[in-house]
Amino acid sequence: MQYGHFDDERREYVITNPRTPWPWINYLGNEDFFSLISNTGGGYSFYKDAKFRRITRYRYNNVPMDSGGKYFYINDGESVWSPGWKPCKTELDSYECRHGMNYTTIKGVKNGIEAEALYFVPLKTWAEVQKLTLRNTTNEVKMLKIFSFVEWALWNAATDMENFQRNFSTGEVEIEDSVLYHKTEYKERRDHYAYYSVNAPIQGFDTDRESFFGLYNGFDEPQTVLEGAPRNSEAHGWSPIASHYVEVNLQPGESKDLVFVLGYVENSPEEKWESKNIINKTKAKATIARFDTAEKVDAALAELRTYWDNLLNVFSIKTNEEKLDRMVNIWNQYQCMITFCFSRSASFFESGIGRGMGFRDSNQDLVGFVHQIPERARERIIDIASTQFADGGCYHQYQPLTKKGNNEIGQGFNDDPMWLIFGTTAYIKESGDFSILDEPVPFDNQDGSEVSLFRHLTVSFDHVVNNLGPHGLPLSGRADWNDCLNLNCFSNDPNESFQTTENKSEGSQAQSLMIAGLFVVYGRDYVELCKTIGNVAEADRAQKHIDDMVEAIKLNGWDGEWFLRAYDYFGNKVGSNENEEGKIFIESNGWCTMAGIGLEEGMVAKALDAVKERLDCEHGIVLNNPAYTKYYIEYGEISSYPPGYKENAGIFCHNNPWIMIGETVQGRGDRAWDYFRKICPSYTENISDLHKVEPYVYAQMIAGKDAFRPGEAKNSWLTGTAAWNYYAITQYILGIRPTYSGLIIDPCISPEWKEFEVTRKFRGATYHIKVKNPNGAMKGVTSIKINGKIIEGNIIPLLAAGDTYAVEVVM
Ligand code: GLC
Ligand code: GLC
Repeated sequence: MQYGHFDDERREYVITNPRTPWPWINYLGNEDFFSLISNTGGGYSFYKDAKFRRITRYRYNNVPMDSGGKYFYINDGESVWSPGWKPCKTELDSYECRHGMNYTTIKGVKNGIEAEALYFVPLKTWAEVQKLTLRNTTNEVKMLKIFSFVEWALWNAATDMENFQRNFSTGEVEIEDSVLYHKTEYKERRDHYAYYSVNAPIQGFDTDRESFFGLYNGFDEPQTVLEGAPRNSEAHGWSPIASHYVEVNLQPGESKDLVFVLGYVENSPEEKWESKNIINKTKAKATIARFDTAEKVDAALAELRTYWDNLLNVFSIKTNEEKLDRMVNIWNQYQCMITFCFSRSASFFESGIGRGMGFRDSNQDLVGFVHQIPERARERIIDIASTQFADGGCYHQYQPLTKKGNNEIGQGFNDDPMWLIFGTTAYIKESGDFSILDEPVPFDNQDGSEVSLFRHLTVSFDHVVNNLGPHGLPLSGRADWNDCLNLNCFSNDPNESFQTTENKSEGSQAQSLMIAGLFVVYGRDYVELCKTIGNVAEADRAQKHIDDMVEAIKLNGWDGEWFLRAYDYFGNKVGSNENEEGKIFIESNGWCTMAGIGLEEGMVAKALDAVKERLDCEHGIVLNNPAYTKYYIEYGEISSYPPGYKENAGIFCHNNPWIMIGETVQGRGDRAWDYFRKICPSYTENISDLHKVEPYVYAQMIAGKDAFRPGEAKNSWLTGTAAWNYYAITQYILGIRPTYSGLIIDPCISPEWKEFEVTRKFRGATYHIKVKNPNGAMKGVTSIKINGKIIEGNIIPLLAAGDTYAVEVVM
């Protein structure tokens, strides 16, 4: 069953039934001010950091689901309702939510009144703007009582949820004209406040939650709205909110707009006050003035649309697969931008207080957006590298507000350093900006410790070289990419986290074939980079280590039919036919086949065939098989999950593309495409009831074949799945791959595809690439013409910027 449909023309997903199987959300803002918004108006806002600067309150894990948001209540004399159905849940005559590129509209129709709310964060603005359009489609005059609603969070989202003995006494607000200000803690150490305004005179307001709702009423039945009369309450402690009350009279056929601005302000300590205890409102008023008419709002939305036109025009495709086109051209790229902004911090599965920016996650995310915003990718790389240690090790995460390494999550994930090479080389290949390598970058943010970024790549590479185990394979440390394969922690205590508890390194033989493959793939990238910048000695030195690693993998990492996953603390095999459970894993087979290890000897084909036979299922490729059915203390968190979920034999969509790319190394485009389609959200739209989460973005996990309900997805939006699937489809299946000296054209497609087109902007030039596949090949380019002239090889060299080139490719 479907709950809506795609509108590709407008780049929107249109939800027509508000009772989606899970809230289907969107993100507003892509710079400093952000909001999450569900299809019924649920969600919250924050400034930069979802933990430390939470602006509005949201209730995770509540009953009912999705409680708290940016709500409008309408009392039209006959009914009390909301344009988004929730929170009132009054049946609407019609409902439609359109999630677009960083904006959402929610429209409800009831008793002949149309109410449409537009929500977005304008570019370069620390505020969410909401335009509520009310239209009377009847022949009678309508008198509407409109109540807006947001609930303030007391800034720190964590203490906001626990420290009630303090929180219930600190809340402070100010009310001036139509603007409701939230200034809790402003008089002490905070130099910021928030506000909620409307561009019309108000006939009342509420700022105290209990006065607005009545102590025992839910979001669906605020006492003031039911009675049609605000209380004009002023919050002192307890729970401050902001609710405007506006009376709107509409003649037959008439429509009116109200513009609301939900904003955030920072003042310097000298400019905090207007007078004693009265906050300086200058900046708030300036922002409010920028959006005080519907025309100004529409103009700002048009600007946002143009911004997205430009972002999405860098790479676009036309194939015979409509569902593929809409993912590559619109939604997958959009999701990549969202992961750039949020890493893994705030979604409907990530509470915004648990995690900061991940070292490995952010580097991988980068390949999904670097072509759209190379300047911001550059800045991100430097931020990430600045948290690295001098020995190449890394903090696993850092906080976006401070950009400092996060001590609570710690370090010792031995795959982390290699991802910096991936992120940096991806950036240089896209932009051609080698100057980033000379950028001075500190270790652990310590002033005076700066070395070149290139040196950071060297210590990253050497971190693996310096941490090899007895089989010549990389020691895994706390964990490799698989956070839950904790081979050194032996935890017996349910009160400790697998991620931060003891990490026994003394005498450990825990080695990772995933890191081994990763090292070969990005080690080669490092070598290529060294050669490109003329550092031949370093290239040679690095190459020797890579050759040794390849040998070690062939010697100690091959199980006969596939690549082993690891050696455990004691030196026993993990992911081997010898094991009773967890005989085969996806990660090592992905990385070692991507690295083409044993390609000639048939190891790549064999490993991929084993993956097909043992890990593949209807909904995607599971992580391991057979699933673990009991807790193995020597493996850690992985075996804590019930079979079929998450890292224990779930379909972890992040790593499925590794197998797709592995298949392209082997030249099997049919299999790569088949795997791609299985987990691609637009292809699962018609099973939304089972799949549950948004059909326009990837989820981190789909329950695997051993699960209670295979095919059910969780953890949508913030996942490396977005970047990796984008990378696999664009660079390895469609095969348009940036490199230092040009664009490689190397498709590996389904033999049924007869043609496809790609428009790619690269280093200032535009390439219209038409690929023809008359003989049903899967891989291999036979000729390339640029503007009618045949070229040698399959790399389009760098051509003059500003121009457009016609590229004809025959496979
Ligand atoms: C999550 C983490 C990522 C990790 C993966 C597998 O997606 O964000 O860092 O690699 O899980 O455990
Ligand atoms: C990753 C995994 C998750 C695990 C977490 C630990 O995000 O996906 O299963 O619980 O790491 O921090």
